[in-house]
Amino acid sequence: MGDFKVIVRNNGPYRLEGEGITICDQEGRVYGLAGRTVVSLCRCGHSANKPFCDGTHNKVGFQSECQAHELPPPQAEGVVTERRMIEENPGESDWCSSRTA
Ligand code: FES
Repeated sequence: MGDFKVIVRNNGPYRLEGEGITICDQEGRVYGLAGRTVVSLCRCGHSANKPFCDGTHNKVGFQSECQAHELPPPQAEGVVTERRMIEENPGESDWCSSRTA
């Protein structure tokens, strides 16, 4: 195991712990974390300081309990998955929503 980990907090945020945490926006710009080795990212969608948790999950009663589990093996290169179709065809949301759980 590495020195970096993400903890999925029940009814709360993703907690990142480790040295050298780097969080970027979609364009690759880096959020300044002022040397923090612990950062919490919003998982409830209600933070006023996204992507960071501001504690609002408590006020809105966010509930999500997660237990670690295994993912299926990754798809081989060249296999078009439903997820990949969604990412590559964002305007096709009707198609995507009718094929995803
Ligand atoms: S998880 Fe804390 S504000 Fe969303």
